[in-house]
Amino acid sequence: MEVIIRPTAASAAALTANLIARALHDQPTLVLGLATGRTMERVYAELVRRHREDGLDFSLCRTFNLDEYVGLAPDHPDSYRQYMNALLFRHVNIDVRNTHVLNGVAPDLAAECARYERRIAECGGIDLQLLGIGSDGHIGFNEPLSALLSRTREKALTPSTRRQNAALFGGDEGRVPARALTMGVGTIQESRRCLLLVTGREKAAILARAVEGPITAMVTASALQLHPRCTVIIDEDAAVDLQGSEYYRWVFATEPEWAEFR
Ligand code: F6R
Repeated sequence: MEVIIRPTAASAAALTANLIARALHDQPTLVLGLATGRTMERVYAELVRRHREDGLDFSLCRTFNLDEYVGLAPDHPDSYRQYMNALLFRHVNIDVRNTHVLNGVAPDLAAECARYERRIAECGGIDLQLLGIGSDGHIGFNEPLSALLSRTREKALTPSTRRQNAALFGGDEGRVPARALTMGVGTIQESRRCLLLVTGREKAAILARAVEGPITAMVTASALQLHPRCTVIIDEDAAVDLQGSEYYRWVFATEPEWAEFR
């Protein structure tokens, strides 16, 4: 794992988008794992800008989103399918048939999750997985006590997650669905590379537990410590509770791999 601290939320998102753009440029058939939520809005805005201004090409790219609410149909305005359409898919040259989001109203949710896992495997696995962290330490919707080897399945959401996501439901926590389908921690761990983007003072304490604390199912993001290639990109506000910032800054400032991104 490596931690990169950028001055602002905007520069952290820009670096994340740059790394995605670079991966897509190097491998046009990239299998890209996507996340939703407030933190990702800037990343998608930057990818759309790169498509418009630099011709960043999504035509051969395949995508898999991490999660979807149970009970929201793909055409529901609050579904993650609609979030992706509005923020990314509609604005770039991606083939919608190559975009995958779990169906939260499938008649058999367990079968839908199994189908999703099969489809990821058929595409050769996820090359690059974009992640955010929840206020309870989740990645995807892997809430506390999710098995660290879990696969795509249905999960009940914590009150803290429903509070966190209320903003996307007109501020009404009661409107946030109580359950979701999510890739498992084990599914995420199999992606070849992970980018975890975290911004804001309110995420600082949980980020420090995930990155520097013990690996525990109470903070499922901590499982990323086991991932062979996980880059954590954060802003100064999210960095305030980290013990090892000096070392992380030094690595970013000196490793040749990061020269073009500094
Ligand atoms: C969303 C997802 C979640 C979010 C996390 C942070 O697809 O997988 O894990 O990344 O809840 O959400 P924001 O960015 O809204 O704070």
